[in-house]
Amino acid sequence: MRNKNGAAAALPSVNEVLSLLVGGGGHAYFGEPVTVLEHSLQAAWFVRQNGGESSLIAAALLHDIGHLMHSEGEDAAKRGLDTQHEELGFALLEDHFPPSVLDPIRLHVAAKRFLCLSDSDYLSALSYASVESLELQGGPMNDAEAEAFLALPHAREAVALRRADDAAKVQGLAVPQLDVYRAILESLWR
Ligand SMILES: [Fe+2]
Repeated sequence: MRNKNGAAAALPSVNEVLSLLVGGGGHAYFGEPVTVLEHSLQAAWFVRQNGGESSLIAAALLHDIGHLMHSEGEDAAKRGLDTQHEELGFALLEDHFPPSVLDPIRLHVAAKRFLCLSDSDYLSALSYASVESLELQGGPMNDAEAEAFLALPHAREAVALRRADDAAKVQGLAVPQLDVYRAILESLWR
């Protein structure tokens, strides 16, 4: 795995993960009114407020870390490019977290495609940027794809993460900062 500067990205500690979020997360988040870091903190907070497990809180905090691993810029979808950030994030973290963290991260884009099929109100409530990337990501699932998705481990957790992801775009919302999550990440780290 390489970071956006082309250097090998090693994550020997939770501190490295937090540094990556702080260092790269200050950029605008793909047409949304929040930065990647603000978006990640809001997503983690919403999962926590909803009584989510520690592993899902961690997944929410880290779900978009793959966006910090490519250099395509926030207009990638406008250029017709799917950066597959969910796979980049999974690859970066896979040696260090259990499947209960990794699977929802890897599946949070599939969960969007699933919700487009299963929730009739979902698509109309999606942000402009999320709709823009949807077709590049495969568009809404069909019934067979949805059935296969639900059979995957942690698919329902991925849907819960996706709900928090979609809500976590509130400009100026004050939420707890990264240090609140350090102990959770440490407890899951391996
Ligand atoms: Fe996100």
